[in-house]
Amino acid sequence: MSIQWFPGHMNAARKKAAEAMEKNDLIIEVVDARLPEASCNPMIAQLRAARQRPCLKILNKTDMADPAATQAWLDYYNSQKGVRAVALSCKKPSDVARVPKLAIETAPHRGTALKPLRMMIMGIPNVGKSTLMNALLKKRVAAVGDEPAVTKSQQRLYLGNNMVLTDTPGMLWPKIEHPTDGLMLAASHAVGSNALIEEEVATFLADLLLERYPQLLRARYGFDTDGMDGVAVVEGVAAKRGFRIKGGDYDVEKAAHVFLQDYRSGALGRISLETPASRAALLASYQVTGNPDALPPEDEAEDGLDWRDAPDHRQRDD
Ligand code: G4P
Repeated sequence: MSIQWFPGHMNAARKKAAEAMEKNDLIIEVVDARLPEASCNPMIAQLRAARQRPCLKILNKTDMADPAATQAWLDYYNSQKGVRAVALSCKKPSDVARVPKLAIETAPHRGTALKPLRMMIMGIPNVGKSTLMNALLKKRVAAVGDEPAVTKSQQRLYLGNNMVLTDTPGMLWPKIEHPTDGLMLAASHAVGSNALIEEEVATFLADLLLERYPQLLRARYGFDTDGMDGVAVVEGVAAKRGFRIKGGDYDVEKAAHVFLQDYRSGALGRISLETPASRAALLASYQVTGNPDALPPEDEAEDGLDWRDAPDHRQRDD
């Protein structure tokens, strides 16, 4: 399975993002702490570097991520020029309350009455941008939900303390370079549920958890993971939960769905799908193998999916 965005949308997105970035002093980039690189739009970093805008990188949903992995990511990002990284849970008011001060520290040249600090929240769908914005404004300004989202238009919101927050234009989607990134995003529900095959995603997630968090699988489902592969884990969930179809075979579709829900809801525990080390190994493996799983060139991509065509996608009502 590959997940890809149409190039036309990417070009329009790039243009709008470049224009918007011109008018802002600080980029607040929200990523998912469980998969910070896979959930990071490379276009944001490119544009930011070109416009020399500092970045407050928020590793959100840290309450669901593995604390050790999150610390490794913080070290990784904080060693990058122009980046200040922080791990937060935007659902926690006390965490969000730290953001204005962090923003000023990251862009100390602004924040006066004459030169207010103009900030822009960016990130791919479902990383928690609306949740952050709502919490910063302490009122509901955007719909929050678990389906991939879009912000339709830009709006400037005054935060007080000489700070202005701009909502992202809603088209900053990544072109997913690596198939595993697509699977991680699908597992974490950053792409719509009809834009993926749940069984394949669940098997991918199960293989990853077998390698990195077998104890969490044992604790949740009570089975012996020795010698298991991802397919066996999904079947094991079906067996443990009594999911069967007519004729007695395991209902792996239902098991896959429940397994993914267990990960997404945090019921499986605090899990990070990637670490700086695993990311480096992934990129190195692509170089060594010539990237055999690489997606076809944009104009040849036949199975490119545009989540905006998905019937179950949600638009923010802002
Ligand atoms: P977006 O604007 O970037 O598209 O994301 P949005 O704020 O809509 O958040 C997407 C989902 O992520 C929501 O879940 C939201 O509650 C959840 N979320 C945001 N920040 C955090 C966080 O720090 N920790 C956790 N655990 N979840 C977070 P939802 O289930 O659709 O909504 P709700 O039922 O929680 O309201």
